[in-house]
Amino acid sequence: MSGNGTNPERRGLFITIEGGDGTGKSTQAKLIEEWLAERGRTVVRTREPGGTEVGVEIREIVLHHRGDIAARAEALLYAADRAHHIETFVRPALERGEVVLQDRYLDSSVAYQGAGRVLDPVEIRNLSLWAAQGLLPDLTILLDLDEITARARLDTSRTRYDRLEAEKSDFHARVRAAYLGLAEAEPERFLVVDASRPVDEIAADIRTRLEPYV
Ligand code: TYD
Repeated sequence: MSGNGTNPERRGLFITIEGGDGTGKSTQAKLIEEWLAERGRTVVRTREPGGTEVGVEIREIVLHHRGDIAARAEALLYAADRAHHIETFVRPALERGEVVLQDRYLDSSVAYQGAGRVLDPVEIRNLSLWAAQGLLPDLTILLDLDEITARARLDTSRTRYDRLEAEKSDFHARVRAAYLGLAEAEPERFLVVDASRPVDEIAADIRTRLEPYV
């Protein structure tokens, strides 16, 4: 499966933000968007699941369905959301030369369904790559935070938890470890930031890494 590096038509920039629940992804995404826009880039912010109309419906099922969902069905729902989102929204934006700043992508599936649900991470990655026709991000920012601190942060901002957030602490510990393993395996794609530090410090680290792209 080829990554975007082999596609000569690409002019845009695909940045994904990853991390456990409560690690501050949305805060950093807003700051990155502002900074890139100040530098004259057209930025589209999007997310998975739920970056398209059909994706909003899939998101509702996968995050808020009241009964159980089999782990493989869950993986396929995320993959279905991804397939539609990448084909109809992300690729066209990249082809227009825009910056796509995306909250969660295939690394979320490998971490949550692969490690969290204990499915085969290689199969999950391949499923996602199939769904997304091989598209890999140019840069993935991983906000790393221990699951206890992340949970405490979530507790202050949530009145209810979605199906994944409601999982126990060992699930979230597996998710974190999987993310760190992914970053270690692809250091050229990942920027790992310590998300326990102040917002401004984290943002400064991210800007330094983004500088060569803008
Ligand atoms: P997110 O949009 O980050 O939640 P919120 O808006 O509440 O901050 O993500 C929703 C949940 O979906 C999150 O717990 C992680 C999970 N998820 C997966 O399990 N697999 C995936 O492939 C994706 C994209 C998300």
